[in-house]
Amino acid sequence: MLLPVIMAGGSGSRLWPLSRQQFPKQFLTLLGDHSMLQTTANRLTGISHSPALVICNEEHRFSVAEQFRLNNTPNSGIVLEPVGRNTAPAIALAAMLAIRNGDDPLLLVLAADHVIKDQVAFCQAVTNAMPLAEQNQLVTFGIVPTAPETGYGYIQRGDALASGLGFDVAQFVEKPNLTTAQDYIATGQYYWNSGMFMFKASTYLQELKIHSPAIFAACEAALVDVTHDADFIRINKASFEACPDDSIDYAVMEKTQHAVVVPMDCGWSDVGSWSALWEIDDKDAQGNVFKGDVIGINTRNSYVNASEKLVTTIGLDDVVVVETKDAILVAKQSEVQQVKQVVEQLKAEQ
Ligand code: GDD
Ligand code: MG
Repeated sequence: MLLPVIMAGGSGSRLWPLSRQQFPKQFLTLLGDHSMLQTTANRLTGISHSPALVICNEEHRFSVAEQFRLNNTPNSGIVLEPVGRNTAPAIALAAMLAIRNGDDPLLLVLAADHVIKDQVAFCQAVTNAMPLAEQNQLVTFGIVPTAPETGYGYIQRGDALASGLGFDVAQFVEKPNLTTAQDYIATGQYYWNSGMFMFKASTYLQELKIHSPAIFAACEAALVDVTHDADFIRINKASFEACPDDSIDYAVMEKTQHAVVVPMDCGWSDVGSWSALWEIDDKDAQGNVFKGDVIGINTRNSYVNASEKLVTTIGLDDVVVVETKDAILVAKQSEVQQVKQVVEQLKAEQ
Protein backbone atom coordinates (compact mmCIF):
# COMPACT_ATOMS: atom_id res chain seq x y z
CA MET A 1 0.00 0.00 0.00
CA LEU A 2 1.08 3.56 -0.66
CA LEU A 3 1.40 5.74 2.45
CA PRO A 4 1.75 9.45 1.70
CA VAL A 5 3.99 11.23 4.21
CA ILE A 6 3.40 14.96 4.20
CA MET A 7 6.26 17.03 5.58
CA ALA A 8 4.75 20.19 6.99
CA GLY A 9 7.46 21.38 9.35
CA GLY A 10 8.95 24.21 7.34
CA SER A 11 8.98 27.74 8.63
CA GLY A 12 9.13 29.40 5.15
CA SER A 13 10.13 33.01 5.56
CA ARG A 14 10.20 33.90 1.87
CA LEU A 15 6.50 34.74 1.71
CA TRP A 16 6.59 37.21 4.61
CA PRO A 17 4.45 39.07 5.69
CA LEU A 18 1.69 36.52 5.02
CA SER A 19 3.87 33.62 6.06
CA ARG A 20 4.80 33.80 9.75
CA GLN A 21 6.47 31.46 12.21
CA GLN A 22 3.07 30.72 13.72
CA PHE A 23 1.42 30.37 10.33
CA PRO A 24 3.94 29.33 7.66
CA LYS A 25 3.45 28.95 3.94
CA GLN A 26 1.89 25.45 4.00
CA PHE A 27 -1.16 26.81 5.82
CA LEU A 28 -1.76 29.72 3.44
CA THR A 29 -4.33 29.76 0.65
CA LEU A 30 -2.26 31.26 -2.14
CA LEU A 31 -3.83 29.75 -5.26
CA GLY A 32 -7.42 28.53 -5.56
CA ASP A 33 -9.63 27.81 -2.55
CA HIS A 34 -7.49 25.51 -0.44
CA SER A 35 -4.34 25.91 1.58
CA MET A 36 -1.13 24.42 0.25
CA LEU A 37 -1.38 21.60 2.81
CA GLN A 38 -4.96 20.80 1.81
CA THR A 39 -4.03 20.94 -1.87
CA THR A 40 -1.18 18.50 -1.21
CA ALA A 41 -3.63 16.03 0.34
CA ASN A 42 -6.20 16.56 -2.43
CA ARG A 43 -3.60 16.00 -5.15
CA LEU A 44 -3.58 12.30 -4.31
CA THR A 45 -7.19 11.64 -5.25
CA GLY A 46 -6.20 9.93 -8.51
CA ILE A 47 -4.10 7.31 -6.72
CA SER A 48 -5.08 4.49 -4.38
CA HIS A 49 -3.45 5.21 -1.02
CA SER A 50 -3.79 5.06 2.76
CA PRO A 51 -4.68 8.27 4.57
CA ALA A 52 -1.60 10.50 4.78
CA LEU A 53 0.75 10.58 7.75
CA VAL A 54 1.58 14.20 8.48
CA ILE A 55 4.70 15.34 10.28
CA CYS A 56 4.98 18.84 11.65
CA ASN A 57 6.20 20.96 14.50
CA GLU A 58 4.26 20.58 17.74
CA GLU A 59 3.34 24.28 17.73
CA HIS A 60 1.41 23.81 14.47
CA ARG A 61 -0.63 20.79 15.56
CA PHE A 62 -3.97 22.59 15.75
CA SER A 63 -3.53 24.29 12.38
CA VAL A 64 -2.77 20.92 10.75
CA ALA A 65 -5.64 19.10 12.46
CA GLU A 66 -8.05 21.91 11.62
CA GLN A 67 -7.04 22.00 7.98
CA PHE A 68 -7.58 18.25 7.59
CA ARG A 69 -10.93 18.50 9.37
CA LEU A 70 -12.16 21.40 7.21
CA ASN A 71 -11.02 19.51 4.13
CA ASN A 72 -12.89 16.34 5.17
CA THR A 73 -9.71 14.35 4.66
CA PRO A 74 -8.80 11.52 7.02
CA ASN A 75 -5.18 11.13 8.10
CA SER A 76 -3.11 8.27 9.51
CA GLY A 77 -1.80 10.49 12.28
CA ILE A 78 -0.02 13.78 12.87
CA VAL A 79 3.50 13.25 14.18
CA LEU A 80 4.56 16.15 16.39
CA GLU A 81 8.20 17.19 16.43
CA PRO A 82 9.16 19.05 19.62
CA VAL A 83 11.93 20.77 17.61
CA GLY A 84 12.70 20.88 13.90
CA ARG A 85 15.58 18.60 12.94
CA ASN A 86 15.06 18.85 9.17
CA THR A 87 13.73 16.27 6.76
CA ALA A 88 16.02 13.23 7.26
CA PRO A 89 14.81 12.70 10.86
CA ALA A 90 11.21 13.64 10.00
CA ILE A 91 11.07 10.94 7.31
CA ALA A 92 12.85 8.48 9.62
CA LEU A 93 10.12 8.91 12.25
CA ALA A 94 7.46 8.34 9.60
CA ALA A 95 9.24 5.23 8.26
CA MET A 96 9.77 3.76 11.75
CA LEU A 97 6.12 4.31 12.65
CA ALA A 98 5.02 2.79 9.33
CA ILE A 99 6.83 -0.52 9.93
CA ARG A 100 5.78 -0.85 13.57
CA ASN A 101 2.97 -3.33 13.02
CA GLY A 102 4.93 -5.49 10.61
CA ASP A 103 3.96 -3.59 7.45
CA ASP A 104 6.43 -2.17 4.98
CA PRO A 105 4.46 0.31 2.88
CA LEU A 106 5.73 2.42 0.04
CA LEU A 107 6.19 5.93 1.41
CA LEU A 108 5.38 8.79 -0.91
CA VAL A 109 7.17 11.70 0.74
CA LEU A 110 5.64 15.05 -0.16
CA ALA A 111 6.44 18.64 0.75
CA ALA A 112 3.34 20.45 2.01
CA ASP A 113 4.17 23.70 0.26
CA HIS A 114 4.58 23.03 -3.46
CA VAL A 115 2.36 23.95 -6.39
CA ILE A 116 1.65 21.32 -9.05
CA LYS A 117 -0.53 22.45 -11.91
CA ASP A 118 -0.94 19.17 -13.81
CA GLN A 119 -2.35 16.61 -11.41
CA VAL A 120 -2.66 13.93 -14.08
CA ALA A 121 1.07 14.16 -14.89
CA PHE A 122 1.84 14.09 -11.16
CA CYS A 123 -0.24 10.92 -10.65
CA GLN A 124 1.40 9.30 -13.68
CA ALA A 125 4.90 9.93 -12.31
CA VAL A 126 3.84 8.56 -8.91
CA THR A 127 2.44 5.45 -10.63
CA ASN A 128 5.69 5.04 -12.61
CA ALA A 129 7.70 5.23 -9.40
CA MET A 130 5.82 2.45 -7.59
CA PRO A 131 7.42 -0.63 -9.21
CA LEU A 132 10.86 0.97 -8.83
CA ALA A 133 10.32 1.65 -5.13
CA GLU A 134 9.06 -1.94 -4.72
CA GLN A 135 12.48 -3.03 -6.06
CA ASN A 136 14.21 -1.30 -3.13
CA GLN A 137 15.15 1.85 -5.01
CA LEU A 138 14.99 5.36 -3.58
CA VAL A 139 12.97 7.19 -6.20
CA THR A 140 13.43 10.91 -6.80
CA PHE A 141 11.17 12.93 -9.08
CA GLY A 142 13.13 15.04 -11.54
CA ILE A 143 12.03 18.41 -12.87
CA VAL A 144 13.62 19.82 -16.05
CA PRO A 145 15.52 22.90 -14.83
CA THR A 146 14.78 26.31 -16.28
CA ALA A 147 17.44 28.37 -14.50
CA PRO A 148 20.63 27.75 -12.47
CA GLU A 149 18.80 27.97 -9.13
CA THR A 150 21.07 27.32 -6.17
CA GLY A 151 18.31 26.40 -3.70
CA TYR A 152 17.62 23.01 -5.26
CA GLY A 153 19.17 19.58 -5.44
CA TYR A 154 20.55 18.55 -8.84
CA ILE A 155 20.21 15.01 -10.16
CA GLN A 156 22.47 13.79 -12.96
CA ARG A 157 20.68 11.32 -15.17
CA GLY A 158 22.53 8.00 -15.65
CA ASP A 159 21.51 5.03 -17.82
CA ALA A 160 17.87 4.55 -18.74
CA LEU A 161 16.22 1.81 -16.69
CA ALA A 162 15.21 -1.33 -18.57
CA SER A 163 11.58 -0.72 -17.55
CA GLY A 164 11.65 2.64 -19.36
CA LEU A 165 10.17 4.26 -16.25
CA GLY A 166 13.18 6.39 -15.33
CA PHE A 167 16.95 6.58 -15.06
CA ASP A 168 19.74 5.63 -12.72
CA VAL A 169 21.04 8.55 -10.70
CA ALA A 170 24.66 9.17 -11.71
CA GLN A 171 25.07 11.93 -9.13
CA PHE A 172 22.92 13.84 -6.63
CA VAL A 173 24.23 17.23 -5.53
CA GLU A 174 22.28 19.30 -3.03
CA LYS A 175 22.31 23.10 -3.44
CA PRO A 176 25.41 23.56 -5.66
CA ASN A 177 26.93 27.02 -6.07
CA LEU A 178 25.96 29.17 -9.04
CA THR A 179 28.81 28.27 -11.40
CA THR A 180 28.34 24.57 -10.69
CA ALA A 181 24.60 24.88 -11.30
CA GLN A 182 25.30 26.69 -14.59
CA ASP A 183 27.71 23.94 -15.66
CA TYR A 184 25.17 21.26 -14.79
CA ILE A 185 22.42 22.92 -16.79
CA ALA A 186 24.70 23.34 -19.80
CA THR A 187 25.23 19.56 -19.98
CA GLY A 188 21.49 18.92 -20.39
CA GLN A 189 21.91 15.84 -18.14
CA TYR A 190 20.55 17.24 -14.89
CA TYR A 191 17.15 17.47 -13.29
CA TRP A 192 16.15 19.53 -10.29
CA ASN A 193 15.16 17.42 -7.33
CA SER A 194 11.48 18.12 -6.74
CA GLY A 195 11.83 17.38 -3.01
CA MET A 196 9.35 14.49 -3.30
CA PHE A 197 10.50 10.87 -2.89
CA MET A 198 9.20 7.33 -2.95
CA PHE A 199 10.70 4.27 -1.28
CA LYS A 200 9.76 1.36 0.93
CA ALA A 201 9.98 2.39 4.58
CA SER A 202 12.59 -0.36 5.10
CA THR A 203 14.71 0.81 2.16
CA TYR A 204 14.97 4.33 3.55
CA LEU A 205 15.80 3.08 7.03
CA GLN A 206 18.50 0.72 5.71
CA GLU A 207 20.16 3.55 3.81
CA LEU A 208 19.81 6.00 6.70
CA LYS A 209 21.39 3.49 9.06
CA ILE A 210 24.38 3.15 6.73
CA HIS A 211 24.89 6.81 5.86
CA SER A 212 23.62 8.66 8.95
CA PRO A 213 23.59 6.20 11.86
CA ALA A 214 23.31 8.98 14.46
CA ILE A 215 19.99 10.15 12.98
CA PHE A 216 18.74 6.57 12.84
CA ALA A 217 19.64 5.95 16.49
CA ALA A 218 18.18 9.25 17.75
CA CYS A 219 14.88 8.65 15.95
CA GLU A 220 14.66 5.09 17.30
CA ALA A 221 15.22 6.45 20.79
CA ALA A 222 12.62 9.18 20.25
CA LEU A 223 9.99 6.53 19.50
CA VAL A 224 10.65 4.31 22.51
CA ASP A 225 7.84 5.87 24.54
CA VAL A 226 5.71 7.18 21.67
CA THR A 227 2.13 8.05 22.60
CA HIS A 228 -1.03 8.48 20.51
CA ASP A 229 -3.50 11.08 21.67
CA ALA A 230 -6.40 11.43 19.20
CA ASP A 231 -4.61 11.99 15.87
CA PHE A 232 -1.49 13.36 17.53
CA ILE A 233 1.61 11.17 17.81
CA ARG A 234 4.05 12.44 20.43
CA ILE A 235 7.69 11.45 20.65
CA ASN A 236 10.44 11.72 23.25
CA LYS A 237 11.64 15.30 23.36
CA ALA A 238 15.12 14.83 24.80
CA SER A 239 16.03 12.05 22.34
CA PHE A 240 14.77 14.01 19.38
CA GLU A 241 16.53 17.18 20.50
CA ALA A 242 19.76 15.19 20.50
CA CYS A 243 19.21 14.17 16.86
CA PRO A 244 21.56 15.74 14.26
CA ASP A 245 19.83 18.34 12.07
CA ASP A 246 20.10 17.29 8.42
CA SER A 247 18.03 17.00 5.28
CA ILE A 248 17.34 13.75 3.43
CA ASP A 249 19.20 15.30 0.51
CA TYR A 250 22.55 15.56 2.31
CA ALA A 251 22.08 12.71 4.78
CA VAL A 252 20.93 10.04 2.30
CA MET A 253 20.40 11.07 -1.32
CA GLU A 254 23.91 12.40 -1.97
CA LYS A 255 25.41 9.19 -0.58
CA THR A 256 23.17 6.29 -1.57
CA GLN A 257 23.96 3.94 -4.45
CA HIS A 258 20.30 3.00 -4.83
CA ALA A 259 18.72 6.14 -6.24
CA VAL A 260 16.75 6.39 -9.46
CA VAL A 261 14.98 9.36 -11.01
CA VAL A 262 11.52 9.43 -12.54
CA PRO A 263 10.98 12.53 -14.68
CA MET A 264 7.97 14.63 -13.65
CA ASP A 265 6.65 17.31 -15.99
CA CYS A 266 3.73 18.62 -13.98
CA GLY A 267 3.98 22.42 -13.74
CA TRP A 268 5.89 22.15 -10.44
CA SER A 269 6.94 25.14 -8.37
CA ASP A 270 8.12 25.31 -4.79
CA VAL A 271 6.85 28.90 -4.59
CA GLY A 272 10.10 30.24 -3.27
CA SER A 273 9.11 33.92 -3.53
CA TRP A 274 6.24 36.29 -4.19
CA SER A 275 7.42 36.69 -7.77
CA ALA A 276 7.36 32.87 -8.24
CA LEU A 277 3.73 33.02 -7.15
CA TRP A 278 3.04 35.87 -9.58
CA GLU A 279 4.60 33.78 -12.36
CA ILE A 280 2.38 30.74 -11.82
CA ASP A 281 -0.92 32.50 -11.12
CA ASP A 282 -3.43 33.63 -13.78
CA LYS A 283 -2.86 37.26 -14.77
CA ASP A 284 -5.18 39.94 -16.08
CA ALA A 285 -4.61 41.69 -19.43
CA GLN A 286 -2.05 44.03 -17.84
CA GLY A 287 -0.09 41.11 -16.42
CA ASN A 288 -1.31 41.68 -12.84
CA VAL A 289 -2.34 39.27 -10.12
CA PHE A 290 -4.62 41.00 -7.62
CA LYS A 291 -5.82 39.16 -4.50
CA GLY A 292 -8.39 40.62 -2.12
CA ASP A 293 -9.64 44.18 -2.27
CA VAL A 294 -7.35 45.82 -4.84
CA ILE A 295 -7.74 48.64 -7.36
CA GLY A 296 -4.86 49.05 -9.77
CA ILE A 297 -4.75 52.09 -12.06
CA ASN A 298 -2.13 52.09 -14.78
CA THR A 299 -0.46 49.19 -12.98
CA ARG A 300 1.35 46.42 -14.83
CA ASN A 301 3.09 43.10 -14.20
CA SER A 302 2.49 43.34 -10.49
CA TYR A 303 1.38 41.11 -7.62
CA VAL A 304 -0.87 42.83 -5.08
CA ASN A 305 -2.33 40.89 -2.14
CA ALA A 306 -4.68 42.70 0.27
CA SER A 307 -5.87 40.87 3.40
CA GLU A 308 -7.31 43.58 5.63
CA LYS A 309 -7.66 46.87 3.75
CA LEU A 310 -8.38 48.18 0.30
CA VAL A 311 -5.07 48.53 -1.52
CA THR A 312 -4.79 50.83 -4.52
CA THR A 313 -1.80 51.25 -6.79
CA ILE A 314 -1.23 53.89 -9.47
CA GLY A 315 1.42 54.00 -12.15
CA LEU A 316 3.42 51.01 -10.96
CA ASP A 317 5.21 48.35 -12.94
CA ASP A 318 6.88 45.12 -11.76
CA VAL A 319 6.09 45.45 -8.07
CA VAL A 320 4.93 43.23 -5.24
CA VAL A 321 2.62 44.64 -2.57
CA VAL A 322 1.45 42.39 0.27
CA GLU A 323 -0.75 43.95 2.93
CA THR A 324 -1.59 42.23 6.23
CA LYS A 325 -2.98 43.31 9.58
CA ASP A 326 0.36 44.36 11.05
CA ALA A 327 2.84 44.59 8.18
CA ILE A 328 3.06 45.70 4.57
CA LEU A 329 5.63 44.68 2.00
CA VAL A 330 6.31 46.88 -1.04
CA ALA A 331 9.08 45.58 -3.28
CA LYS A 332 10.42 45.49 -6.80
CA GLN A 333 9.68 42.08 -8.30
CA SER A 334 13.36 41.52 -9.09
CA GLU A 335 14.46 42.19 -5.51
CA VAL A 336 11.66 40.51 -3.60
CA GLN A 337 13.94 37.60 -2.56
CA GLN A 338 15.54 40.05 -0.13
CA VAL A 339 12.48 39.76 2.08
CA LYS A 340 14.65 37.18 3.86
CA GLN A 341 16.77 40.08 5.14
CA VAL A 342 13.67 41.76 6.53
CA VAL A 343 12.76 38.60 8.41
CA GLU A 344 16.31 38.27 9.75
CA GLN A 345 16.28 41.86 10.92
CA LEU A 346 12.93 41.38 12.63
CA LYS A 347 14.22 38.26 14.39
CA ALA A 348 17.34 40.12 15.55
CA GLU A 349 15.18 42.91 16.99
CA GLN A 350 12.91 40.53 18.93
N1 GDD B 1 8.21 17.80 9.56
C1 GDD B 1 9.20 18.55 9.11
N2 GDD B 1 10.24 18.80 9.95
N3 GDD B 1 9.14 19.06 7.88
C2 GDD B 1 10.16 19.83 7.47
C3 GDD B 1 11.27 20.13 8.29
C4 GDD B 1 11.31 19.58 9.62
O1 GDD B 1 12.22 19.78 10.41
N4 GDD B 1 12.11 20.93 7.60
C5 GDD B 1 11.54 21.12 6.39
N5 GDD B 1 10.36 20.47 6.32
C6 GDD B 1 9.43 20.41 5.19
C7 GDD B 1 9.11 21.76 4.61
O2 GDD B 1 7.86 22.23 5.11
C8 GDD B 1 8.99 21.45 3.12
O3 GDD B 1 7.67 21.03 2.84
C9 GDD B 1 9.92 20.27 2.91
O4 GDD B 1 10.08 19.67 4.19
C10 GDD B 1 11.28 20.62 2.29
O5 GDD B 1 11.98 21.46 3.17
P1 GDD B 1 12.64 22.83 2.70
O6 GDD B 1 13.32 23.44 3.87
O7 GDD B 1 11.64 23.64 1.95
O8 GDD B 1 13.77 22.27 1.71
P2 GDD B 1 14.45 23.06 0.52
O9 GDD B 1 13.44 23.76 -0.31
O10 GDD B 1 15.57 23.87 1.05
O11 GDD B 1 15.11 21.87 -0.37
C11 GDD B 1 14.39 20.69 -0.68
O12 GDD B 1 13.40 20.93 -1.66
C12 GDD B 1 13.89 21.38 -2.95
C13 GDD B 1 12.70 21.55 -3.88
O13 GDD B 1 11.83 22.50 -3.37
C14 GDD B 1 15.44 19.68 -1.19
O14 GDD B 1 14.82 18.41 -1.28
C15 GDD B 1 16.00 20.09 -2.55
O15 GDD B 1 16.85 19.06 -3.06
C16 GDD B 1 14.85 20.33 -3.53
O16 GDD B 1 15.37 20.73 -4.81
MG1 MG C 1 11.44 24.28 -0.04
